Amino acid sequence: MIEVKRISKCFGQHEVLKDVSLSVAEGEVVCLIGPSGSGKSTVLRCINGLESYERGDILIDGQRVDRDGADIHRLRTRVGMVFQRFNLFPHRTVLENVTEGPIFVNRVPREQARAQAMTLLDKVGLAARCDAYPAQLSGGQQQRVAIARSLAMQPEAILFDEPTSALDPELVGEVLAVMRTLAADGMTMIVVTHEMGFAREVADRVCFLHSGSIVESGAAAQVLSEPQHARTQDFLRRVIGK
Ligand SMILES: Nc1ncnc2c1ncn2[C@@H]1O[C@H](COP(=O)(O)OP(=O)(O)OP(=O)(O)O)[C@@H](O)[C@H]1O
Ligand SMILES: [Mg+2]
Repeated sequence: MIEVKRISKCFGQHEVLKDVSLSVAEGEVVCLIGPSGSGKSTVLRCINGLESYERGDILIDGQRVDRDGADIHRLRTRVGMVFQRFNLFPHRTVLENVTEGPIFVNRVPREQARAQAMTLLDKVGLAARCDAYPAQLSGGQQQRVAIARSLAMQPEAILFDEPTSALDPELVGEVLAVMRTLAADGMTMIVVTHEMGFAREVADRVCFLHSGSIVESGAAAQVLSEPQHARTQDFLRRVIGK
């Protein structure tokens, strides 16, 4: 479904991704972990066409993501992205935030878009708040709206970039619960996260990124419980505190 083949990317002189390869099958959940600055967000941004890269290829369902950004609109509708900061439109209601993309990008008739949005809001537990504005919601609720908004575009895969790290601890669980449901429904997902419990429980595979290289990847239980590489061991010791 998503195939990243030996991509490299520089910001000026700084090579931030070095020969990164990653493939994600349909319905698979891959967690990307690693220290700050290791390139996790950059990997997601390259896959979603938000960032260009110098070498390598990225294929979505066998189709090449153009390094120079052609076809980018089509790509964005196929691969959704959920960010740490929810990026909801502040002057639009919850329902309008979810229907905006389908109506204006996918040309879905307004009534149909609203009906679909209500189904999705129900799924993330927020149908009752459809007329609220983002500022009236908690961070966890806003992030659940952001997930519904992403789902409304009927993406083939969703990339999550630290979706819970801006949240107060007591709000993390409700967002992870929605993500768990998505995974169980068979959504293809790449999740950058520091939530090792979630990774262990939900991820099919875990990839550990360090200084722009994937130094270790494998089954979640294996990478998280029996990391082979010293850098992975060191990272997990710091994150899990064991
Ligand atoms: N627009 C940019 N211009 C220059 N350098 C950048 C830019 N974006 C990222 N970088 C650099 O690229 C490297 C990888 O950044 P990236 O944001 O992908 O890391 P990350 O693993 O997501 O980190 P974090 O856990 O802090 O979010 C870092 O050294 C960062 O400083
Ligand atoms: Mg990041």
